[in-house]
Amino acid sequence: MSSTRALHLAARPEGLPKDSDFELRTRDDAALEDGQVRIAVRYLSIDPAMRVWMTEAKSYWPPVALGEVMRSAGIGEVLESRNDKFPVGTWVSGMTGVQETLVSDGKGMQRFDASALPHPGWALSLFGATGLTAYFGLIDIGKPKPGEVLVVSAAAGAVGSAVVQIGKALGMTVVGIAGGADKCRFVHEELGADAAIDYKNEDVSKALRQHCPDGVDVYFDNVGGDILDAVLKRLKMHARIVLCGGISQYNAGSGTRGPVNYLSLIAARGRMEGFVVIDYLHRAGEAIAAMTPWVQAGKLGSRLDVVDGMEHFPEALRRLYTGANFGKQLVKL
Ligand SMILES: NC(=O)c1ccc[n+]([C@@H]2O[C@H](COP(=O)([O-])OP(=O)(O)OC[C@H]3O[C@@H](n4cnc5c(N)ncnc54)[C@H](OP(=O)(O)O)[C@@H]3O)[C@@H](O)[C@H]2O)c1
Repeated sequence: MSSTRALHLAARPEGLPKDSDFELRTRDDAALEDGQVRIAVRYLSIDPAMRVWMTEAKSYWPPVALGEVMRSAGIGEVLESRNDKFPVGTWVSGMTGVQETLVSDGKGMQRFDASALPHPGWALSLFGATGLTAYFGLIDIGKPKPGEVLVVSAAAGAVGSAVVQIGKALGMTVVGIAGGADKCRFVHEELGADAAIDYKNEDVSKALRQHCPDGVDVYFDNVGGDILDAVLKRLKMHARIVLCGGISQYNAGSGTRGPVNYLSLIAARGRMEGFVVIDYLHRAGEAIAAMTPWVQAGKLGSRLDVVDGMEHFPEALRRLYTGANFGKQLVKL
């Protein structure tokens, strides 16, 4: 009988997740029943929200229980099948969990053609939840118009880099905020942002005054905290703030802080609105149809950052909060 290794949640983290918050366990593989498939997980999507799922906080998904296999989106190949819809060799994407293989009845698993993508990992980045987050967050919540000023935080990251490129493809003036000279160069020179602000080495408020002298129409917020407060001070009339994420706060526990400068929304008649990508999964085809021509025209791409080995999952997760990742963080199994 063959066996599978899986990473289970062993403790609720305090601050940055530690290796000891997880436990690697091995289990025997069960025989398949009718309708089931065995999937070999090839890549895991490493997402900032994982830190939230590890707490007891109520969110759009229940917490991962202690002892449970760590929740993760992933892609894999069907190894063994007793389900006609998923023949052996089919690539699938879904909530695989952090484990080498899983048994599934196919519910919640989407088939995709890996050979049609530049890399199978694109099913987790631009053509997966990351790209849908960028597209629907900007289009549905940000309601962008050509010529408007768009500011994007975590602009070199997975979601942020897609938002920057989509904003440019839509004819906006785009200012990206990222940590460090290399990432800022990437945002400006490769993604095509009109300007990039290095929040680790620059005064963000001052730089926003310089690059957005007339203010900001749309702010795509991936980080919260001080950067959100700095943008709140520069809103144009009827500005829209897209609350996508607040990574600067995810490790703060009960110390999470909200925006200080929110009263400026009143004078600007502005709006701040959160959204969760799972509400848009049924519209994935619409986003992919809109993004594909930009990809074909070389206006939209996706940088991947791949860490090898499931045992390095905790380190891969930490990379998101230290900014060590450069592109969509994946773990290859
Ligand atoms: N609402 C939704 O449905 C949804 C779906 C997916 C993702 N999200 C959110 O989108 C955001 C980006 O996710 P992603 O998957 O694309 O990750 P990512 O941007 O690829 O990686 C996270 C980045 O956040 C930046 N960061 C970390 N700590 C920071 C801090 N204290 N202040 C400022 N920046 C910080 C780092 O970039 P630097 O090196 O530039 O600091 C890091 O590379 C996250 O907040 C995530 O929770 C929301």
